[in-house]
Amino acid sequence: MGEDLRQLSVAADLLRSARSIVVFTGAGVSAESGIPTYRSGSDGLWSAQNMERFANPSGYARNLPESYEWYRARALTALDVQPNAAHRAIAALTTARRGVTLVTQNIDSLHQRAGSADVIELHGNLRECRCEACGWRVPWASAPGRPSCPECTGTLRPDVVMFDEMLPAEALEAAFAAARTADVMMVVGTSLQVAPASELPRLALRAGGRVIVVNPDEQDGLTGPGVVRLPGKAGQVLPPLVASATLAPSAEGPGAGSPAS
Ligand code: OAD
Repeated sequence: MGEDLRQLSVAADLLRSARSIVVFTGAGVSAESGIPTYRSGSDGLWSAQNMERFANPSGYARNLPESYEWYRARALTALDVQPNAAHRAIAALTTARRGVTLVTQNIDSLHQRAGSADVIELHGNLRECRCEACGWRVPWASAPGRPSCPECTGTLRPDVVMFDEMLPAEALEAAFAAARTADVMMVVGTSLQVAPASELPRLALRAGGRVIVVNPDEQDGLTGPGVVRLPGKAGQVLPPLVASATLAPSAEGPGAGSPAS
């Protein structure tokens, strides 16, 4: 058996025997849907210029209305693309068995569109824009042409967490609690460059859980005891992994006491 297949089989065994699983995703899980990641590839969203203009509240305010338009274009792109095989495999895992918690840093809602319910969104989402003054909200598809609230003339902004802002407390607490009690955390398509979300895998490891990493590169630095790496694209690795992990165990399978043939 090749090394990749052996690792896949180890990972499937871990998932099969786990009582509690956390799936923790980042931009890489949506790459095969056509959404650029933040930091990888020449089309990464966080070019130095975009970081400066759009990633934090003061850049956003200084660069209106261009910053509003940038988020609106991303929201409309997210509506336009389709969930991929990785989102569908994760949805299959979350529905096939109990004890699976899905935590994402993504704001594109593709997990929900693939059929996952109760997704913990750490960085907000691009479903609606909101007025930062009065809280008025509207789906991006019907958002005003200018970043001005029709109710109070306050500034409209995306409902996402920008740098220098707090993560939603309830989501963060739920994610940390799930990480602390996870038998297995599967980390898919994230570079782990942004705290506090990046702490989740190490928290799971410290609490005695195992970590499976699905990522074509090793920029995340997750290696060592307790870590199984599956180096490949999420859309290619996850379908066979989840299929294997959700197969019903055979009553006559290995270790079930059947005589060796
Ligand atoms: P990054 O762009 O930092 O990392 C994307 C990761 O996905 C990299 O490790 C790639 O190697 C990996 N990747 C690329 N294609 C893949 C594929 N097909 N399958 C699997 N993995 C693949 O994105 P995040 O780690 O999600 O926050 O970034 C974290 C946060 O930084 C984002 O939520 C966002 C950003 O600032 C906010 O906006 C608050």
